[in-house]
Amino acid sequence: MKDLCAQHWFKEAVIYSLDIRSFKDADEDGLGDLKGLISKLDYLHSLGVTCIWMVPFYSSHGQDGGYDVVDYYAVDFRLGTLADFKLLVERAQEKGIRIILDLVVNHTSNQHPWFLNAISDKNNRFHNFYIWKDEKPENDKEDLVFNTVEDSNWECNHQINRYYYHTFYRFQPDLNVANPIVQQEILRIIDFWMRLGIYGFRIDAVPHILKNKGDEQFKGDPYDVLDQWKEAVIKHNKEAVLIGEADVEPEDYPRFFNKGKKLDGLFNFFLNNYLFLGLAEHCAKPLVQAFERLPPTGEQGRYLNFLRNHDELDLERLSDEERERVLEIFAPCPFMRIYGRGIRRRLPPMLNGDRARVCLSMNLLLTLPGIPVIRYGEEIGMGDDLELPQRESVRTAMQWDDTVNGGFSSVQTEQLQWRVIDHGPYGYQHVNVSKEMHEEVSLLRQIQKMINLRRKHKAFAYGSFKIIQVSNPQAFVYVHLLDGQGLLILNNFSYTNADVEIDLTKERFKLTCIWGTPLSMEESVGTVNITLSPYDYIWYTIAKLE
Ligand code: NOJ
Repeated sequence: MKDLCAQHWFKEAVIYSLDIRSFKDADEDGLGDLKGLISKLDYLHSLGVTCIWMVPFYSSHGQDGGYDVVDYYAVDFRLGTLADFKLLVERAQEKGIRIILDLVVNHTSNQHPWFLNAISDKNNRFHNFYIWKDEKPENDKEDLVFNTVEDSNWECNHQINRYYYHTFYRFQPDLNVANPIVQQEILRIIDFWMRLGIYGFRIDAVPHILKNKGDEQFKGDPYDVLDQWKEAVIKHNKEAVLIGEADVEPEDYPRFFNKGKKLDGLFNFFLNNYLFLGLAEHCAKPLVQAFERLPPTGEQGRYLNFLRNHDELDLERLSDEERERVLEIFAPCPFMRIYGRGIRRRLPPMLNGDRARVCLSMNLLLTLPGIPVIRYGEEIGMGDDLELPQRESVRTAMQWDDTVNGGFSSVQTEQLQWRVIDHGPYGYQHVNVSKEMHEEVSLLRQIQKMINLRRKHKAFAYGSFKIIQVSNPQAFVYVHLLDGQGLLILNNFSYTNADVEIDLTKERFKLTCIWGTPLSMEESVGTVNITLSPYDYIWYTIAKLE
């Protein structure tokens, strides 16, 4: 088994992303907390999750879902203590679940003591922690991420009468990461959390961090900073990983990888966009074409696949015309859209609650090459609340059961500090963990089975991936092969039956169906003809015959 010699937990991981504030309230203050998450580890374990990526829970000013950090070394006091965090790491580890945290160092909150010092005096040593100009530059909108909410990358601080740079909201001044002293501070932050037993970080906004933005430039290639960070994590834990949020063109992906020295994984925003185009058009072609542009990864690094995350579904990787087509179908009303480029909905409402299509999407998430990242609530088909502002719509409380507040918190509903969906088809009365656990056929039970099946088949983690060309554009067929064995996966993107002819003339294989049932299957010399029902997907184990 030569291919298994580079075994690593990360390659086999099933990651679950959550925000403790919206997950489970244990201390009865109407907000989720660390103890609440600890109480739900058994659930995550039974789901088959092997790693949790926690979005920021540090002390923050509470304006950008915790991404406006005020103290990198403290837990937001409403969510627990460092002792609770240590307990979480320990308890999770006992169940084979590793914890990854968000490293938010592109910016701080404007309430961070560094910034408060920076604006006290131009000569203060913290001033140079940020990026300044005396005048607003002419081209002041070069990299404006929240382009419908902010109108410039440069904001005047009237206390000091200078302009500071911000990529995101104006209350998030960008750190001057080119400054070696800031780099030292980042290493201290890494060190602090690694000592508590975590398995690495999801680095927020990596390409923005590594951009030369102000007068001070990085020495050498800015991307070499990632090597330093990788060294800093593996110094504590040889198995620790760094994964990056980098919504860039696929041609730029190799810059982030350096044979395990820089990042171990990148969120595959590009594939994600083409997956949604394929779903919108009932056609597998966009995905097939997307793979032609994706650089291979292998030992260089991995891709992380996801359907939805805690942000908008950002469709920037599509052409203007493709993006418009997806928006028209999945976000027909203006209030479903955001920042002129994305969708602020969860997946099931986008698919009109069509269970078969939701399952097909989950199948793609769990079988495409790469590491699947499941967003909390995705496994039960949670919906969104479009009355909430911006991306809050997709961040409502986890729905555990049909008791008051969906089992998220036992406080009086008026005392809730987080929004719970309590009405309509996605209300906790209909969509919840307890109900789906008890149903024989539910989304949750299906996903649980699929995850466990995926984990049994090592070809997903270590095999080679190949798309099987088929003439029917609604079908997407691929194999993961490891030492002559593996899996053949078929997906039907359309609402009509799909006839698929697979040419096996080059090699002789034995196929055994392990998930789903084809409408019909015929084998004749050299070819297999399979008919899939609408939105169906099927897994075969495949073994080469001598
Ligand atoms: C990316 C995070 O995912 C998003 O939620 C946040 O608003 C920005 N970075 C700024 O930190």
